[in-house]
Amino acid sequence: MDQASGLRQMVDKKASCLRKIDKPKKKIKRLSPAMPRVIAVTSGKGGVGKTNIVGNLAIAFRRLGKRVLILDADLGLANIDIIFGLNPQYNINHVINGEKDIAGILIKGPENIYIIPAGSGIQELSRLTEGQKLNLLSELDVIDDSFDIFLIDTGAGISSNVIYFNIAARERIVVVTPEPTSITDAYALIKVLYTKHGTNTFNILVNMTKNAEEAESVYKNLSNAVARFLGNISLDYIGFIPRDDNFQKAVKKQQAIIQLYPETVSSKSIIELAKHISKLSRDDPPDGNIKFFWKKIVASY
Ligand SMILES: Nc1ncnc2c1ncn2[C@@H]1O[C@H](COP(=O)(O)OP(=O)(O)OP(=O)(O)O)[C@@H](O)[C@H]1O
Ligand SMILES: [Mg+2]
Repeated sequence: MDQASGLRQMVDKKASCLRKIDKPKKKIKRLSPAMPRVIAVTSGKGGVGKTNIVGNLAIAFRRLGKRVLILDADLGLANIDIIFGLNPQYNINHVINGEKDIAGILIKGPENIYIIPAGSGIQELSRLTEGQKLNLLSELDVIDDSFDIFLIDTGAGISSNVIYFNIAARERIVVVTPEPTSITDAYALIKVLYTKHGTNTFNILVNMTKNAEEAESVYKNLSNAVARFLGNISLDYIGFIPRDDNFQKAVKKQQAIIQLYPETVSSKSIIELAKHISKLSRDDPPDGNIKFFWKKIVASY
């Protein structure tokens, strides 16, 4: 038996025991039998609005009746808990080290979205022992059917963490702005994911635009470069969010723009985006999306 299948068997065994004896305390009532969609929100260049988009999109999905879980996989400073003024006491490290179960570290954000705080745990993923991997996989397995949408704020660039989260997620949203360096860095990220890892489906969201025309031209620039130099990649345009100073005001008040300024064009575009994403078709792996995601993550390290 190879190491991976040994680990898999241990995880399956521990997970089935957990299901019998230790149901997650914060398990939310099921609304639909579908498996959660695992969506990475990513970018080539930093500061393009990923964290704000994840936070707002999460609330927009909630309002569509979805149960939403966010993984803060971003090592940057302005992460999701800070944006919402939350103060997590525990993080994924405590799960990895067996000190807490997953229900014990989840924090509740606005409108009952749930967040897995990362702390430095995400940084440590590359150094996990087999026992720690087992802790992580079996705990996360338990929450697989408690959520409809699992959003991952990946951080920016082509560091190994960003790449792993993008490969493991079933869907990706690449956030790009009209700034030329944002477009070239998005291209660089897509190129690495495609040429080194065979990832060939991407959703493109244009943020901080003047208007729809500018957003479409940003998308066309990127898709022309991809078609010309990379080939067989599906790059779908899923919408745009206009530049809006209310984003900064909302961050200062530690609230989401769609809560604080629901009537603005940008808030409405986020709601539309959530509706659009909800309608996209998907293809579920046989062993569950969150489990599949984490298995891929720990197998990559
Ligand atoms: N549509 C927008 N209009 C104006 N400002 C915006 C918009 N979207 C985001 N911002 C602002 O841009 C800044 C960066 O946003 P955010 O922190 O969400 O980016 P990020 O991509 O997560 O950054 P990082 O790569 O550092 O994690 C914040 O000050 C935020 O308020
Ligand atoms: Mg961020």
